[in-house]
Amino acid sequence: MINIAVLGYGTVGSGVVEVITTNKESIAKRIGDDINIKYVLDLREFPNSPIENILVHDFDTIVNDEEVDIVVEAMGGTNPAYSFAKASLEHGKSYCTSNKELVAKYGPELLKLSEKMNKNFLFEASVGGGIPIIRPLNQSLTADEIMEITGILNGTTNYIMTKMSKEGLDFDTVLKEAQELGYAERNPEADVEGYDACRKIAILTSLAYGQHVDYEDIYTEGITKITDIDFKYAAKLGKVIKLFGKSRRAGDKFFAMVAPFMIDDNNPLYSVNGVLNGILVKGNVLGDVMFYGSGAGKLPTASAVVSDVVDAAKHKNTHIMQIWSSKKLELSDIADAKSRFFVRISGSADMKMEEIADHFGDVKPVSVDGVTGEFAFVTQVMSEAEFEKAAEATEGIITRIRME
Ligand code: NDP
Ligand code: HSE
Repeated sequence: MINIAVLGYGTVGSGVVEVITTNKESIAKRIGDDINIKYVLDLREFPNSPIENILVHDFDTIVNDEEVDIVVEAMGGTNPAYSFAKASLEHGKSYCTSNKELVAKYGPELLKLSEKMNKNFLFEASVGGGIPIIRPLNQSLTADEIMEITGILNGTTNYIMTKMSKEGLDFDTVLKEAQELGYAERNPEADVEGYDACRKIAILTSLAYGQHVDYEDIYTEGITKITDIDFKYAAKLGKVIKLFGKSRRAGDKFFAMVAPFMIDDNNPLYSVNGVLNGILVKGNVLGDVMFYGSGAGKLPTASAVVSDVVDAAKHKNTHIMQIWSSKKLELSDIADAKSRFFVRISGSADMKMEEIADHFGDVKPVSVDGVTGEFAFVTQVMSEAEFEKAAEATEGIITRIRME
């Protein structure tokens, strides 16, 4: 019998209990042993619920119980999650978490501790919800040098942008829906400002190169400035707008950023809609491989968490090697990163095209029926630094979106 404790009985934690209950037999077959949920820890009471009799409010009960083999954390945040993770590992328990904030900040330290204790610190659900991506990076893509990772890594923002562009709904209405569906973070600013995607690309990039990427070093833009007018221009150009987390290796330089991008249907991520996430990984020998599926939500996320529980149970006294050292991976300034830019500017094209050409060189103007008082243009490929210089010299820029 493998005893586990679940910390946090919210969207993901309650999903973990449901998945283990629903698939009890098939999970037991895979492990060769039964899983028993011995405790659920939460701040609240859950009267008349299936966990009523195993609910505790004191972590010490769990950490001091020698029968608990695996602690599953789905509380979120770093406090008290970090101290609970440390204490669990120090007490010889494996720790499985969906908490990307914890993983992005303390991943290397907790992995080192898990190795020392011959236990496991697993976090499949921390990136891409239900999509297997952490295990493939650690265990399958090991013959390759990873050259590039591009992901739609946040279900909430992809859901919002899909609904805004395809159904013409407004931002606040769709955000509320995403919250009700259990996709959004407790503080949805983490989703819409890109911080969540930033932590996820930091985790993936750290695992791809084996060194720690500090998410605070990653240039991050969210989707709060994207409006219905941007979607109209994108449609006119035959494109969609997606929030990407990207990292890339160029020789001995590493770049990472989170920002909205306009892409067309040549990009495999073009059709990744709604709460779905897609992660495109380029290996130097494999070429492109894409991971696709539900990026958030109760059961898909719980499925990934429970896959970690199964792995931890199968490796009860064996540490599964994951290479992520605390040595910092220095990221290069994105000033050198290059793309085309879609730019909206107030005024009329007749009056401004000469000035724009002076600053941006050869550009392609775009207009959309019914949008007045402004127009847009698409630049040639230019660096971030060149773009900033040209933009500073040009009056009336409303917004700009990078293009692939
Ligand atoms: P919820 O807010 O739905 O659930 C968190 C639960 O943990 C709540 O019941 C909360 O109680 C409880 N909790 C918080 N602090 C403590 C504490 N100190 N002691 C005991 N219980 C505590 O969050 P989610 O389930 O959505 O997310 C959990 C984690 O999983 C987060 O890190 C999130 O980023 C991550 N995640 C979420 C996904 C999703 O689709 N929702 C997908 C992938 C990852 P109370 O409500 O009383 O505060
Ligand atoms: N809030 C996150 C998202 C949950 O929307 O992607 C999954 O990590």
